[in-house]
Amino acid sequence: MSLNSFGHLFRVTTWGESHGPALGCVVDGCPPGVAVDADTIQHWLDLRKPGTSKYVTQRREPDAVEILSGVFEGVTTGTPISLLIRNADQRSKDYGAIADAFRPGHADYAYHVKYGIRDHRGGGRSSARETAARVAAGGIARAVLADMMPGMRVRGAMVRMGEREIDRAAWDWDEVARNPFWTPDAGAAADWAGYLDGLRKAGDSVGAVIEVVASGVPAGLGAPVYGKLDTDLAAAMMSINAVKGIEIGDGFAAATLTGSANADEMRMGRSMDDIVEVTLDGGRLDSTRQYVIRAATDTEKERWFHVRDVSVVDEDGASVTLHLPRRALSERGMHHADLTIIHGAGKPEFTSNHAGGVMGGISTGQDIVVRFAVKPTSSILTPRATVDRFGNETEIVTKGRHDPCVGIRAVPVGEAMMACVLLDHALLHRGQVGANRGTVGG
Ligand SMILES: Cc1cc2nc3c(=O)[nH]c(=O)nc-3n(C[C@H](O)[C@H](O)[C@H](O)COP(=O)(O)O)c2cc1C
Repeated sequence: MSLNSFGHLFRVTTWGESHGPALGCVVDGCPPGVAVDADTIQHWLDLRKPGTSKYVTQRREPDAVEILSGVFEGVTTGTPISLLIRNADQRSKDYGAIADAFRPGHADYAYHVKYGIRDHRGGGRSSARETAARVAAGGIARAVLADMMPGMRVRGAMVRMGEREIDRAAWDWDEVARNPFWTPDAGAAADWAGYLDGLRKAGDSVGAVIEVVASGVPAGLGAPVYGKLDTDLAAAMMSINAVKGIEIGDGFAAATLTGSANADEMRMGRSMDDIVEVTLDGGRLDSTRQYVIRAATDTEKERWFHVRDVSVVDEDGASVTLHLPRRALSERGMHHADLTIIHGAGKPEFTSNHAGGVMGGISTGQDIVVRFAVKPTSSILTPRATVDRFGNETEIVTKGRHDPCVGIRAVPVGEAMMACVLLDHALLHRGQVGANRGTVGG
């Protein structure tokens, strides 16, 4: 059945198995004229690839991407983009034990019952090697989004490993790249290292929660009622291997709140009288104008800064992303390093984000926040009771090189799915509405 595609206008079809010669995807509906080359895509693939630390599968896959079509002289042509990634490091004999017996917790039994035939080598189509193709497609989506919405960012982080959760007050996006767990909390990274090592050596595995945040997304993406942005985000995340739960914004915790606590109240942005001095030299900020500087804090409080404290890292016509020195952050009791300057005070703003940036299925301009839970890896060295296809009761021990916590490599996959869905909805929005029609105030 033709159920290997997702997306409406930006449509991705993946193909291939874990131990076949290659896997890949076809990306259809990509706008023309966007600079894309293999390096653009490879950057994201390298973040997902196996063997990068002792906490992920030791399979040695270069995951080198080849662009077969749809890009001419480094620019997309608007025709289908076909991407190929060769499988290099298969050890099919490791999977002999699962040719006939079913791994508890894995897809073996369900595939067998449905199709009567399965490529058991490396898990075949149920292997998370398929997610390499999603990350490649996400690399293209990110390149298009960077063209359409400069300053927009999609970032993911691991916020829970098993019973151990991060300290949100210690959240530092820069920390994510510094540890093998994609966690924004350095303390959690240190704790998880020993915890996961112990589980791995004991032949066991553990689950995780991943949070993906898109900032700088304009209001207006998504549509009532079957085209809701959160519907498509949830479906995209749920389609990732091992995902068992999805939350948008407060998610299940919203059920514990009262209406008054959950309401994301709105205020008009600060008037010019409230705005601090602006003395930034260079860049494209106009030092004769005044700017509202909004900082993301763990307490959601607004903070005010002198613009000379910060350096510009990204700028488009509507917003400027800045980095504030760490010292300045700690002096103010803050942990987040990303700031956004909003030009033109006096626009509506939310004072909290329980909704996770989506209301009525449509983006509000706030950060879009999606969390997903992945179960523990089911291929483990601890013997588990099972049956084989002949009806014998048996025990199974799954050898091979498996991820002890699949959540680690699921982070870039979640980011890729978010990027693909947001681009898909940006194209749908452009197709139906063009630009937003509603205004508030002057
Ligand atoms: C990035 C990633 C890596 C994974 N690595 C493994 C692995 O090494 N061994 C394994 O048994 N499952 C692994 N999984 C999970 C299986 O692919 C998944 O459990 C299986 O396809 C069954 O699907 P389900 O869990 O969604 O029901 C991984 C999942 C992800 C997202």
